[in-house]
Amino acid sequence: MASWRLDDKVAIVTGAGNGLGKEYALYLASLGAKVVVNDLGSSTTGSGSSSSAADAVVNDIKQAGGEAVANYDSVVEGEKIVQTAINTYGRVDIVINNAGILRDVSFKRMSEKDWEAVYQVHLKGAFKVTRAAWPHMETNGYGRIVNITSPVGLYGNFGQANYVAMKRALVGFTLTLALEGAKKQIKANVVAPYAASRMSKTVMSSEMLEALPAAPVAKFIAFLCHEKCPESGGIFELGGNWVSKVRLQRSRGVQFRDGFDLEDISAHFKEICDFGEGSEFPTEGMSGMGHAMAARQKRPDGKTEAKL
Ligand code: NAI
Repeated sequence: MASWRLDDKVAIVTGAGNGLGKEYALYLASLGAKVVVNDLGSSTTGSGSSSSAADAVVNDIKQAGGEAVANYDSVVEGEKIVQTAINTYGRVDIVINNAGILRDVSFKRMSEKDWEAVYQVHLKGAFKVTRAAWPHMETNGYGRIVNITSPVGLYGNFGQANYVAMKRALVGFTLTLALEGAKKQIKANVVAPYAASRMSKTVMSSEMLEALPAAPVAKFIAFLCHEKCPESGGIFELGGNWVSKVRLQRSRGVQFRDGFDLEDISAHFKEICDFGEGSEFPTEGMSGMGHAMAARQKRPDGKTEAKL
């Protein structure tokens, strides 16, 4: 067990005053990490602020013999949160972008305010905290970033166009951080949890909430934060005692050697969407380019225009 400790590591957990973030902060601290417990102390929809949520978690950590410091800034002021880590502990090794709010409403009723508020906390906040921590991680040649998405951020959900958009954006953000951080031993992964919290109470039944404690999610997060974590750029979906990895799949597709018109698309649509034989699990942004170029190169008459 000793080898899974996080002694001497400094972790920032955003939105750590409640729910899952609190569980992450407590667990990382129990493994020896020094934790910046960030929390604005807002409601589930983002209104209000209070220092008491972060203070209570810092208190719990200290009572248990751990080390922690509170920070009450909004994640959109990420540089201040990172500064708290630097001022208090002199470094930052781990960032968990967990702070979150909901402004659920059907799309036709969604105001720009609903969109903007969710953008600010989930996406801009993750950018600001990570951007401020990044140079410190590069200098140290070590970093672990865990972004918190949501299963609905992977698959979509009615009434959450704002939240789903930002959560999905965090997946793309993570994939790119993993690429750019590789040389400096900075690893970035993204986690879609299912767990009981004041937020999930608004969307889950009491039976679901009972079956989904936050503690197992915290353990997996700690694994991703550890120096022995083998993974970067991973998308994980988990809850209860279930942990899984998610990836994108691309069908083999159809090469229309002589271009195509709408009728051709209609005739081959089933084939275009067929994930059977020849489908792939691409991991690189330009990996489809070869397929896209192939038809052009192979045209015997030299023509490249589609019929359309
Ligand atoms: P929660 O509402 O219990 O905790 C969120 C915390 O974030 C609160 O303490 C709040 O004060 C803080 N916060 C909000 N805005 C902030 C800001 N601007 N700056 C700093 N702190 C801020 O919610 P929960 O369920 O613990 O969610 C944590 C994360 O996990 C969120 O990103 C959420 O979207 C995500 N998530 C949770 C799921 C669940 O099953 N509970 C499912 C999927 C994703």
